[in-house]
Amino acid sequence: MRLLNIVSSPRGAKSVSISVANAFLDAYGKATPSIEIDTLNVWDENLPDFDSHAIGAKYKGVSKEPMDSAELSTWIRIQSLVKRFQQADRIVVGVPMWNFGYPYKLKQLIDLVSQRNMLFTFDGERYGPILKVPRALVIYVRGQSHDRGAGISSPGFKHQADYIDFWLKFIGVDEVRSLMVEHTWDGKGPETIEQGKARAIAMAADF
Ligand SMILES: Cc1cc2nc3c(=O)[nH]c(=O)nc-3n(C[C@H](O)[C@H](O)[C@H](O)COP(=O)(O)O)c2cc1C
Repeated sequence: MRLLNIVSSPRGAKSVSISVANAFLDAYGKATPSIEIDTLNVWDENLPDFDSHAIGAKYKGVSKEPMDSAELSTWIRIQSLVKRFQQADRIVVGVPMWNFGYPYKLKQLIDLVSQRNMLFTFDGERYGPILKVPRALVIYVRGQSHDRGAGISSPGFKHQADYIDFWLKFIGVDEVRSLMVEHTWDGKGPETIEQGKARAIAMAADF
């Protein structure tokens, strides 16, 4: 059993999404000792830019045209990132809210690995998922809260969670579970973070 643990906070030991994910992983590891955890920290991976080389590689990869050396080196990097998704039996993603969305490095990873015939198929009309991952857990954290001072049209977690949920299902995750922690940077922080960790530990029991 292999679990892909995607880290998208750059804050290391100060990060709430990392500490809640780690509480989950510790509990899950105790319940499932055979689990192998592959941590993919989007800030440490030196992800290639999704620039003209990456786009050239993407299009030539589909049409099977020869790539130049810059495209090829990006393509090899993309293939090794995709492999980590293909090898996963479970996925955990920690997602800090940044400006009502998710950190741009997480989107960079998504753009790099979302390749036709690697994570999804497309026959000209319909898309199909390639992964066969029964479950993923996404941990969303934010400094504030939907209920206080957020403004009438604030999307709360909806904007980020709808997209991440859709994308995981699009590539082949059957069931996407989520855990949300708010108020991480205000006075309620210590309490909500402890509650988040306790919920994470409880969720590890049947993952
Ligand atoms: C660039 C940036 C943008 C942020 N934008 C929001 C936001 O829109 N809403 C919110 O509630 N908190 C926002 N925060 C606060 C973070 O969501 C909060 O600190 C959270 O704990 C970050 O996750 P982490 O602890 O795993 O790094 C922002 C923080 C940063 C650094």
